[in-house]
Amino acid sequence: MKITFVCLGNICRSPMAEFICKKMVNDAGLTKDFSITSAGTSGYHDGEFMHSGTSKILSQHQISHNDFESKKINKNLFNESDLVLVMDDSNFEDVKNKFGNSEKIKKITDYCTDKSITYVPDPWYTNNFQQVYDILTDAITNLLKEI
Ligand code: 4NP
Repeated sequence: MKITFVCLGNICRSPMAEFICKKMVNDAGLTKDFSITSAGTSGYHDGEFMHSGTSKILSQHQISHNDFESKKINKNLFNESDLVLVMDDSNFEDVKNKFGNSEKIKKITDYCTDKSITYVPDPWYTNNFQQVYDILTDAITNLLKEI
């Protein structure tokens, strides 16, 4: 099963989701059953490492995240993904407009326990990486229970 997390810049939210998910899958002994990656809709930070705020919060939770380079989503990656999990409505529209509507495009917040959460706020603007970590940890826990 290939899961691709998508945000705008691929340096804050989707890399955090990628490495939280990899850690949970690894802890469950299921690494060989999953391929997990992330990408951005913009390509603004292609080739860069993740934001220091994302790296810091992953380190605080003992989640390894060394092997990372920001990239833009392309047709190949979209086609080979079984699930494309976006962070907000803007990501959703961008992915849909680029690659066509598909059942496999979902907002990660659809999996939140708290149904009042409808998007993952962008810490590029809010600087609140803890909020992103909490939302993603809850949502990915529920996602992995479901699949
Ligand atoms: P992300 O955050 O989409 O969660 O990676 C952003 C990172 C960079 C920019 C916007 C959002 N930017 O405009 O460069």
